[in-house]
Formats: sequence, structure tokens, C-alpha cells
Amino acid sequence: MVLQYGTPSTMRWNAKTYDSSFGYVSALGAPLVDLLDPRQGERVLDLGCGTGALTAEISMRGAQVLGIDGSPAMIEKALAGYPGLDFIVGDGHDFGVAEPYDAVFSNAALHWMSRDPDMVIANVHEALIPGGRFIAEMGGAGNCAALIAAMSTAWREHGLREPDLPWYFPTPAEYAQRLEKAGFTVRLLEYFDRPTPLDECPAGASDWVRMFAGTPLANVPADLVEPLLRRVDELAAPALRTESGWMADYVRLRFAAVRR
Ligand SMILES: C[S@@+](CC[C@H](N)C(=O)[O-])C[C@H]1O[C@@H](n2cnc3c(N)ncnc32)[C@H](O)[C@@H]1O
Repeated sequence: MVLQYGTPSTMRWNAKTYDSSFGYVSALGAPLVDLLDPRQGERVLDLGCGTGALTAEISMRGAQVLGIDGSPAMIEKALAGYPGLDFIVGDGHDFGVAEPYDAVFSNAALHWMSRDPDMVIANVHEALIPGGRFIAEMGGAGNCAALIAAMSTAWREHGLREPDLPWYFPTPAEYAQRLEKAGFTVRLLEYFDRPTPLDECPAGASDWVRMFAGTPLANVPADLVEPLLRRVDELAAPALRTESGWMADYVRLRFAAVRR
């Protein structure tokens, strides 16, 4: 059964193409599972679990894991792919748990929970036992700057208002302050560039926009979508198209914090 907490109403994810074209997101999350270092029998919550690849990896290392995601399509795919595991639909801003967890894990998802980051952190705090770990990686300040600049210019050139972007990409200082204020001790915080090959996205920037900027794209008149995306490719190409293919200009924030 798919239980449902509040679902973010603006969320549009193509769960079908996520693994085939954007499976690199989970693949690049493997070192984060090492940082989590799940132990036999401990309870772990995977927040923004997507199609469940890392949830399954955590389970294989012996933990009891629950995956939560705001997208019903992602949860359906996770349930189909990993029938032995528990997944529920829920919003990072207002999920609740019956029994607290030893750790909350989150890969490439917190920057999507942008309505109120403090609320998300407070929920995670509430979901943990004292001493529980919050291990996560998310987009940091400057993430996808060239992709976003290409989008803004293309939208403007087509006479459209600049897109409302759905992400929150904090600086390390800003996010550490939020964590500390909410009752976490920050044990590790890394902020680094991670140029990421878009190997499975033949059209490059426009494929990325279709998958990750579905909400701003949905507000574009249908006849403008294709020319707009072609222009995004043209504008992004000088910065992001290399001889070996397209590279996304990812900047990541990775942290380990402990509930005080
Ligand atoms: C880029 S995917 C990452 C998925 C997975 N963690 C992985 O590593 O492949 C981001 C996920 O965050 C989820 N998400 C976005 N906003 C959310 C919210 N407010 N509450 C819960 N999940 C959310 C999306 O549905 C999506 O599955």
C-alpha cells in the first residue's frame, strides 16, 4: 500500500526516464552511503528516496530502511523495483514518524524541499533519536549556474518572465547555521565542484531542463517549448559541451550532523 502524507503539489517527475537517463544521481550517491555507514539492524529513513536505488543499497548493508518521497510516481517505481522494502509518499516539510530513527539519509533531494528549509530540518530532527545522524548531500550555492543562466536568458529572449526556480542551493555557512540552530552538531561539511557527465542525455542541457525543470517548463506556452529548449542548448553549449559530451556544472554540499 502507498501511504500518503501531504504531497508537494508542484512536483513533476518522470519516474520512467529517471533511472535510464539520470541514474547517475544515485550512482554518485554511493560514497554518501559509505559516510552513513549503516549498521546491522539500525533504523534508517531515506528522505527524497526517488526510485529507491540507494534505499536498497542501505538495506543491503543490513539496516531497516524506509524510503519517503514526495512524488507518487517515484514511490510506485521504488515499490515495483524493490518489493521487499518499505516506501511511502510524503513531503519533507511535514512528514512524521511513529518511532524515531537512528539516522536520516538524503541524496540530491534537500535542495528540492525549498518551501521552508528550516521546517525540513526540524522534521528530520524530530524523526531522529538523540545522537541520531543526519547524513546528506544536496546542491550548494552556485549549483548549475551555467544551466540556470542559459534558462534565464532563453526565457527572457522568448518574451517570458524569468522562470521561478524550484531549488534552494545554500552556502555551507548558511546551511550549517540552520542545522546548529535546529539542534544539530555539524561534524563534517564539504562544499565542492562536481562536473558531471550527462552521458545518457544526448540533447544535453535541454534533456536536463526537461527532467529537472519540469515545473517552470510547464508554464511555457506549448508552441514555445521546442524553440526555447533549442536556445537553452545553444546558450549553455560554450560552458558545458566538451569534446567528450555535455557536463553539468554541479556544486555539492555534503554533511554529517548529529542530533544533540
Ligand atoms: C534528484 S531526485 C534524488 C532521488 C534519490 N535520492 C537518488 O539519489 O536517486 C530528488 C527526489 O526528491 C524528491 N522530492 C522533491 N521534493 C520533495 C519533498 N518536498 N518531499 C519529499 N521528496 C521530495 C523528488 O520527488 C525526487 O524523487
